Amino acid sequence: MAIAKTPQDLKITPRDRRFGRDEKQERWWFAGDPFSTAFLNALSVTFPRGEAFFIDSVKAFRDGASPKLEREIRAFTMQEVMHSREHVAFNRKIADTGYNLAPLEAAVEEAMQRIKDRPAIVNLAVTMALEHYTALMARIMMRNPGWWQGVEKHWADLWRWHSIEEIEHKGVAYDTWLHATRDWSRWQR
Ligand SMILES: [Fe+2]
Ligand SMILES: [Fe+2]
Repeated sequence: MAIAKTPQDLKITPRDRRFGRDEKQERWWFAGDPFSTAFLNALSVTFPRGEAFFIDSVKAFRDGASPKLEREIRAFTMQEVMHSREHVAFNRKIADTGYNLAPLEAAVEEAMQRIKDRPAIVNLAVTMALEHYTALMARIMMRNPGWWQGVEKHWADLWRWHSIEEIEHKGVAYDTWLHATRDWSRWQR
């Protein structure tokens, strides 16, 4: 089976955008649908801590990276930092409407504590896998424009912006893994 490689001419562009700061917040902001709203709210609550973890996991192995990979890691980091900034703002808005973030935040924190002494290479492998899922989810969000019908525009834009950048940088953790394990056998990998 052919293994898809990151395109040589891929350019990862961090887009410094801000969303919904001054908008009036509806509780069921996803087209009035409590289920989809809660699903995306829950996902968003995990992002700030999760993305910080992804950044740390990838950066731990940037030494000796090719100039191309180094550039990509830098762009990946900038993208994730801005995603977190926007999701922190989003999370504040949903908390204002009565959505209780605390239990989920505590669960994320607990998971982080559990993994903090794990070998860095394991964290990179986990990041690689989670970035794969994120890119899959982003693809679903991008391929079904009808999905966003009736959703408050600034929030639809936030999720689409995030999706675009997740697809763009989906190979970075994997390429970092290939770099980090370059001396390993195929079996070991
Ligand atoms: Fe992200
Ligand atoms: Fe990502």
